[in-house]
Amino acid sequence: MMANTDRNGTVAVILAAGKGTRMKSDLPKVLHPLLGEPMITYVVRALEQAGVGDILAVLGHGGSQVEQVLQERVRPVYQEEQLGTGHALLMALPQLLTYGGGDCLVVCGDTPLLAGETLAELRLRRSQAGAQATVLTAVLDDPKGYGRIIKEEDRVTAIVEEKDADESQRQVREVNAGAYCFDLNWLGKALEQLTPANAQGEYYLTDVISYLAAQGQLVTSYQVADPEEIWGINDRLQLAKAQDRLRHRILAGHMLAGVTVEEPGATIVGPLVEIGRDTVLETGCQIFGKTVIGEACVIGPRSRITDCRIGKGTAVNQSTMTECVAGEKCQIGPYTYLRPGCLLADKVKAGGFVEMKKVTADTDAKIPHLSYMGDCTIGKKVNVGAGTITCNYDGVNKFPTVIGEGAFIGSNTNLVAPVNVGPGAYTAAGSTITEDVPANSLGVARGRQTNILDWKNRPSKK
Ligand code: UD1
Ligand code: CA
Repeated sequence: MMANTDRNGTVAVILAAGKGTRMKSDLPKVLHPLLGEPMITYVVRALEQAGVGDILAVLGHGGSQVEQVLQERVRPVYQEEQLGTGHALLMALPQLLTYGGGDCLVVCGDTPLLAGETLAELRLRRSQAGAQATVLTAVLDDPKGYGRIIKEEDRVTAIVEEKDADESQRQVREVNAGAYCFDLNWLGKALEQLTPANAQGEYYLTDVISYLAAQGQLVTSYQVADPEEIWGINDRLQLAKAQDRLRHRILAGHMLAGVTVEEPGATIVGPLVEIGRDTVLETGCQIFGKTVIGEACVIGPRSRITDCRIGKGTAVNQSTMTECVAGEKCQIGPYTYLRPGCLLADKVKAGGFVEMKKVTADTDAKIPHLSYMGDCTIGKKVNVGAGTITCNYDGVNKFPTVIGEGAFIGSNTNLVAPVNVGPGAYTAAGSTITEDVPANSLGVARGRQTNILDWKNRPSKK
């Protein structure tokens, strides 16, 4: 194989083949979501931010699911049997050797709080020290469950797993983050020496460190300032705790950038969301995916917005929106359900108890109350009366409805698609419109009213 020619020659490996037994889940551990995004995508993003060119992911349990989530962002390497973290990295060794030297970052797929800058700094520290390996560490109040860092002066001599540690080693509070930067020239040699002679009968990656130290090679540590960055997720309690920290970190970023968050303890914003200044997030908002919200919007309580674009000055109140675009100064809600494919221009109103799917609504269109609109094009300044619905589905196929500019749809109209209501046309309240209504005409499709007089005084039966 040819030596790789990526952005800057850096390669990293994410270890993510483990089952995550302690999660007690059918979903692979590294796909458990935090703020709507799978755990491993945080690790991938941190490596990308650290300027890594190529990312190899060692996969096993649920590997094809993980590949599907990460797509082109990583190169998969399979570890069929999970014999330990050292064995996992060994699986990637043939690929690593094609890079012909340099360094290699190794991280675990279950440490989603690690920051990109920290990993960049880890690389820098190794090269500045001229070390064969540098281990990322943190000092924890409760080091339980983590590998302990054993040192002589500044040199790391070993990492001892909790289960293999003696009483004095257990007292050590500096722990292994599970992230390392290795000199590739030494890594292969060290990996080939590993044996499973330990409490768990596994090939520990951490034994690479004691091997290197025993060979007289230099192993250093880089201690993160903020210990929570290294948190590893092994069970759902840790998942919830990590999610909470991420949530606060993300909200703090938005607040410092000019977003008002009324109740940070009850607001969820995903890591990829962008929000403009002077926007207000009211209590209980949940904003996920690649949502972009403009400036000076008000996102009302309990709104749930996923993968949407929302223009400046728009208000969304207690509503759910998925894969939609709304322009500037729109009014959405309360209790509006906008399903994928809705494109609202500026100043559109989608009011209370309105559900829409694949609706294109032009400027100033209003659908103020209690409607279902599906597969529908709504022109400028159209008013859709309360209770109007599109009958877009015949049980087999979906059909379109087109409402021309300035049309007025009377309350409680049924629009049986496919059907067009021309520009400036009207439909009479309560009509079931099955045929096109020409421009500027009135479509009436209902029984005429009959009044039966003196009904109240009709003779009653004995
Ligand atoms: C590991 C470290 C420990 C460190 C901790 C940090 C070892 C032996 N121990 O312990 O020192 O403090 O991480 O969080 O390395 N994996 C594989 N294949 C395997 C086994 C594991 O790919 O055969 C992956 C897992 O999917 C996981 C990562 O490696 O993403 C870490 O494995 P895990 O079992 O969670 O290790 P810890 O016991 O937490
Ligand atoms: Ca772990």
